[in-house]
Amino acid sequence: MEREFIMIKPDGVQRGLIGEVIQRIERVGFKIIAMKMIQVSMEQAEEHYAIHKGKPFYEGLLEYITSEPVVAMVIEGKDAVKITRKIVGATDPVLADPGSIRGDFALDIGRNIIHAADSPENAIVEYKIYFDEEELLSYKRIDYDWLYE
Ligand code: RTP
Ligand code: MG
Repeated sequence: MEREFIMIKPDGVQRGLIGEVIQRIERVGFKIIAMKMIQVSMEQAEEHYAIHKGKPFYEGLLEYITSEPVVAMVIEGKDAVKITRKIVGATDPVLADPGSIRGDFALDIGRNIIHAADSPENAIVEYKIYFDEEELLSYKRIDYDWLYE
Protein backbone atom coordinates (compact mmCIF):
# COMPACT_ATOMS: atom_id res chain seq x y z
CA MET A 1 0.00 0.00 0.00
CA GLU A 2 1.17 3.47 -0.83
CA ARG A 3 0.39 6.84 0.74
CA GLU A 4 -0.40 10.01 -1.18
CA PHE A 5 -0.72 13.59 0.07
CA ILE A 6 -3.49 15.71 -1.43
CA MET A 7 -4.58 19.28 -0.87
CA ILE A 8 -7.77 20.93 -2.13
CA LYS A 9 -6.42 24.40 -2.84
CA PRO A 10 -8.18 27.68 -1.90
CA ASP A 11 -9.97 27.90 -5.25
CA GLY A 12 -11.33 24.37 -4.83
CA VAL A 13 -12.69 25.26 -1.40
CA GLN A 14 -14.10 28.63 -2.51
CA ARG A 15 -15.80 27.05 -5.53
CA GLY A 16 -17.56 24.43 -3.45
CA LEU A 17 -15.60 21.50 -4.88
CA ILE A 18 -14.51 19.80 -1.63
CA GLY A 19 -17.17 17.11 -1.94
CA GLU A 20 -16.57 16.62 -5.65
CA VAL A 21 -12.86 16.01 -5.09
CA ILE A 22 -13.36 13.71 -2.11
CA GLN A 23 -15.97 11.72 -4.05
CA ARG A 24 -13.50 11.02 -6.85
CA ILE A 25 -10.83 9.90 -4.40
CA GLU A 26 -13.23 7.73 -2.39
CA ARG A 27 -15.06 6.06 -5.23
CA VAL A 28 -11.93 4.68 -6.88
CA GLY A 29 -11.28 2.88 -3.59
CA PHE A 30 -8.68 4.96 -1.80
CA LYS A 31 -8.85 5.03 1.98
CA ILE A 32 -8.70 8.49 3.56
CA ILE A 33 -6.47 8.09 6.62
CA ALA A 34 -6.24 11.78 7.62
CA MET A 35 -8.06 14.94 6.65
CA LYS A 36 -8.33 18.50 7.95
CA MET A 37 -9.22 22.01 6.91
CA ILE A 38 -6.44 24.47 7.58
CA GLN A 39 -5.08 27.85 6.63
CA VAL A 40 -1.58 27.18 5.32
CA SER A 41 1.08 29.34 7.02
CA MET A 42 3.82 31.05 5.01
CA GLU A 43 6.38 28.73 6.69
CA GLN A 44 4.46 25.63 5.64
CA ALA A 45 4.02 26.96 2.10
CA GLU A 46 7.75 27.70 1.75
CA GLU A 47 8.61 24.19 2.90
CA HIS A 48 5.99 22.58 0.68
CA TYR A 49 7.01 24.45 -2.45
CA ALA A 50 10.78 24.70 -1.76
CA ILE A 51 11.49 22.93 -5.06
CA HIS A 52 9.89 25.83 -6.96
CA LYS A 53 11.86 28.60 -5.20
CA GLY A 54 13.25 31.07 -7.75
CA LYS A 55 10.76 30.18 -10.48
CA PRO A 56 8.66 33.04 -11.90
CA PHE A 57 5.42 31.66 -10.43
CA TYR A 58 6.85 30.99 -6.92
CA GLU A 59 5.75 34.16 -5.12
CA GLY A 60 2.26 34.01 -6.62
CA LEU A 61 2.01 30.34 -5.67
CA LEU A 62 2.81 31.10 -2.01
CA GLU A 63 0.32 33.97 -1.96
CA TYR A 64 -2.39 31.75 -3.49
CA ILE A 65 -1.90 28.71 -1.25
CA THR A 66 -1.83 30.81 1.95
CA SER A 67 -4.72 33.12 0.94
CA GLU A 68 -7.75 31.13 2.16
CA PRO A 69 -8.47 27.74 3.80
CA VAL A 70 -7.50 24.46 2.13
CA VAL A 71 -8.34 20.82 2.82
CA ALA A 72 -5.32 18.58 3.39
CA MET A 73 -5.60 14.81 3.15
CA VAL A 74 -3.53 11.66 3.35
CA ILE A 75 -4.90 8.71 1.41
CA GLU A 76 -3.76 5.14 1.11
CA GLY A 77 -4.09 2.49 -1.58
CA LYS A 78 -2.40 0.52 -4.33
CA ASP A 79 -0.36 2.81 -6.62
CA ALA A 80 -1.91 5.79 -4.82
CA VAL A 81 0.47 8.39 -6.30
CA LYS A 82 0.20 7.36 -9.96
CA ILE A 83 -3.55 6.83 -9.85
CA THR A 84 -4.21 10.07 -7.97
CA ARG A 85 -2.10 12.07 -10.42
CA LYS A 86 -4.26 10.64 -13.24
CA ILE A 87 -7.46 11.56 -11.38
CA VAL A 88 -6.03 15.07 -10.82
CA GLY A 89 -4.87 15.59 -14.43
CA ALA A 90 -2.03 17.59 -15.97
CA THR A 91 -0.75 20.71 -14.16
CA ASP A 92 -2.04 23.02 -16.90
CA PRO A 93 -5.81 22.63 -17.33
CA VAL A 94 -5.32 23.17 -21.07
CA LEU A 95 -3.53 19.82 -21.15
CA ALA A 96 -5.63 18.04 -18.51
CA ASP A 97 -7.89 15.36 -19.98
CA PRO A 98 -11.66 15.70 -19.69
CA GLY A 99 -12.73 13.47 -16.81
CA SER A 100 -9.80 14.58 -14.66
CA ILE A 101 -10.38 17.09 -11.85
CA ARG A 102 -8.39 19.84 -13.55
CA GLY A 103 -9.83 18.94 -16.97
CA ASP A 104 -13.36 19.19 -15.64
CA PHE A 105 -13.12 22.16 -13.25
CA ALA A 106 -10.13 24.39 -14.04
CA LEU A 107 -9.06 26.85 -16.75
CA ASP A 108 -5.83 28.41 -15.44
CA ILE A 109 -2.54 26.78 -14.34
CA GLY A 110 -2.40 29.13 -11.35
CA ARG A 111 -5.89 28.12 -10.17
CA ASN A 112 -5.89 24.36 -10.68
CA ILE A 113 -8.02 23.22 -7.71
CA ILE A 114 -5.87 20.52 -6.20
CA HIS A 115 -2.35 19.51 -5.26
CA ALA A 116 -1.10 15.93 -5.25
CA ALA A 117 2.45 14.87 -4.40
CA ASP A 118 4.41 13.61 -7.41
CA SER A 119 6.19 10.63 -5.80
CA PRO A 120 5.68 8.33 -2.79
CA GLU A 121 8.80 9.85 -1.20
CA ASN A 122 7.54 13.42 -1.64
CA ALA A 123 4.10 12.39 -0.35
CA ILE A 124 5.69 11.47 2.98
CA VAL A 125 7.82 14.63 3.12
CA GLU A 126 4.74 16.75 2.36
CA TYR A 127 2.24 15.13 4.72
CA LYS A 128 4.74 15.58 7.55
CA ILE A 129 4.53 19.36 6.98
CA TYR A 130 0.82 19.30 7.78
CA PHE A 131 0.17 16.22 9.95
CA ASP A 132 1.66 14.59 13.03
CA GLU A 133 2.14 10.85 12.63
CA GLU A 134 -0.55 10.12 15.26
CA GLU A 135 -3.12 11.95 13.13
CA LEU A 136 -2.90 9.17 10.51
CA LEU A 137 -5.55 6.57 11.30
CA SER A 138 -5.36 2.84 10.83
CA TYR A 139 -8.55 1.03 9.80
CA LYS A 140 -9.89 -1.32 7.14
CA ARG A 141 -12.49 -0.24 4.57
CA ILE A 142 -15.42 -2.66 4.51
CA ASP A 143 -14.98 -3.11 0.71
CA TYR A 144 -11.25 -3.87 0.97
CA ASP A 145 -11.66 -7.52 -0.06
CA TRP A 146 -13.51 -6.45 -3.21
CA LEU A 147 -11.01 -3.75 -4.17
CA TYR A 148 -7.94 -5.98 -4.15
CA GLU A 149 -7.31 -9.46 -5.58
P1 RTP B 1 0.90 20.35 -7.64
O1 RTP B 1 2.32 20.28 -7.14
O2 RTP B 1 0.15 21.59 -7.19
O3 RTP B 1 0.12 19.09 -7.45
O4 RTP B 1 0.94 20.51 -9.20
P2 RTP B 1 1.90 19.79 -10.21
O5 RTP B 1 2.78 18.79 -9.54
O6 RTP B 1 1.01 19.30 -11.31
O7 RTP B 1 2.73 21.04 -10.70
P3 RTP B 1 4.12 21.61 -10.19
O8 RTP B 1 5.04 21.65 -11.34
O9 RTP B 1 4.57 20.92 -8.94
O10 RTP B 1 3.72 23.11 -9.81
C1 RTP B 1 3.14 23.42 -8.59
C2 RTP B 1 2.03 24.42 -8.79
O11 RTP B 1 2.60 25.66 -9.19
C3 RTP B 1 1.71 26.32 -10.08
N1 RTP B 1 2.41 26.53 -11.34
N2 RTP B 1 2.26 27.62 -12.05
N3 RTP B 1 2.49 29.60 -14.06
C4 RTP B 1 3.18 28.49 -14.18
O12 RTP B 1 3.91 28.26 -15.13
C5 RTP B 1 3.04 27.49 -13.13
N4 RTP B 1 3.65 26.32 -13.10
C6 RTP B 1 3.25 25.73 -11.95
C7 RTP B 1 0.51 25.42 -10.28
O13 RTP B 1 -0.52 25.83 -9.38
C8 RTP B 1 1.04 24.06 -9.90
O14 RTP B 1 0.00 23.21 -9.47
MG1 MG C 1 3.99 19.26 -7.89
